[in-house]
Amino acid sequence: MSTIFRLDSSIRTEGSVSRAVADTLEASIVEAEDADTTVVRRDVGMNPLANDVWATSAFAGFVAEEDRTDAQVAAKAVAAELADELVAADAIVVATSLYNFGVSQHLKTWIDTVISDPRFAPGTETVKGKPAFLVIARGGGYAEGTPREGWDHATAYLRRIFEDVWGLDLDVIETELTLAEVTPQMAELRDLARQQLAESHEVARTSGRSVTLKLRSAA
Ligand SMILES: Cc1cc2nc3c(=O)[nH]c(=O)nc-3n(C[C@H](O)[C@H](O)[C@H](O)COP(=O)(O)O)c2cc1C
Repeated sequence: MSTIFRLDSSIRTEGSVSRAVADTLEASIVEAEDADTTVVRRDVGMNPLANDVWATSAFAGFVAEEDRTDAQVAAKAVAAELADELVAADAIVVATSLYNFGVSQHLKTWIDTVISDPRFAPGTETVKGKPAFLVIARGGGYAEGTPREGWDHATAYLRRIFEDVWGLDLDVIETELTLAEVTPQMAELRDLARQQLAESHEVARTSGRSVTLKLRSAA
């Protein structure tokens, strides 16, 4: 029996590439795990956390428990609930999008709130070594040598948090050029975009098996 925690943060459901690739990944993990698998989902794209919850929770950390305000107690409870979801998971899937050359604000609020729980403060090793996936969709192209090389300020930050701060055993599935289909100026990139999307789904499909192997060797 294993538990997958999946977080979505795209601000759309219809046509979302990150959700579609994460669906393929989730299905492949569930299929590869022959025992019962529970998928716990949180969708901060559709149901964002209040954007002041992390600051309230972070400051509550400097206040003795008995002196906390009701708002601080509530924010700490939210942080603990998010942290519990990660602690209970055997594998973690985070699906997101590049927005305005940076990280989704909803995902950032989730990360900041999780970090405000003492189990996830920098230096802790609560989820060290857990298998995890970052599924990210970008409308444009940021490959080496392209005009916007270096403009994706989300992926490196997310790697820093998931790999270096939390110590997750992270795989990244990236899909670029997702706006090619709907952007006339990107028409000549459509074949490449379709190829990249197909490759992402293929990587997602084969990833279920690798998670199962990791979970078995950890058991
Ligand atoms: C508000 C907004 C801002 C965006 N900013 C960027 C951007 O800076 N760079 C980029 O390559 N794509 C950008 N995009 C396009 C998305 O990254 C792209 O559509 C991606 O596929 C979204 O993820 P999803 O398909 O899972 O919804 C933006 C989209 C929206 C809605």
